[in-house]
Amino acid sequence: MSPQLPDQLVSVGVDVIDEQHEVLLRMYSDIEQARTVGAPEGLVVERLADFHQFARIHFATEESLLAEHVPERLAPHRRVHEYLLERLRTAIVRYRRDGGPVPEALVRLVRGFVVDHTQETDTRDLARVSERIRRPDRPDPKPQEHHHATRPSR
Ligand SMILES: [Fe+2]
Ligand SMILES: [Fe+2]
Repeated sequence: MSPQLPDQLVSVGVDVIDEQHEVLLRMYSDIEQARTVGAPEGLVVERLADFHQFARIHFATEESLLAEHVPERLAPHRRVHEYLLERLRTAIVRYRRDGGPVPEALVRLVRGFVVDHTQETDTRDLARVSERIRRPDRPDPKPQEHHHATRPSR
């Protein structure tokens, strides 16, 4: 029995990403629901395929934000995304071809992704995106003007 899914995910501080995470959570919860009610395996596989498609869009959104604002985190973060997409893609191709039940391990992988990746890796890296959007910490390319105060400022 899987533990309860969270009703809502913790905000990563970037609205577009939070909205996409909620969509992924709903899509995942539909997959669990389909399995719980004993829906045909073909339907579960097609829901996984929808999840895969939306996850690709979502990952591309995250990666473009990272590339722009936190480029040092892009490569390691992208590797995690690519791992999930590849595992899902291979499984979908196989189950579309051969049929057979979608293994619990694959569903657990997707669940781990929706809950753990978004709440740990995304929260850490996207919080930095949000900080840099609001308060860029890279030095301004123009030299700073120095104001020489004639009296101590308070
Ligand atoms: Fe994400
Ligand atoms: Fe991510």
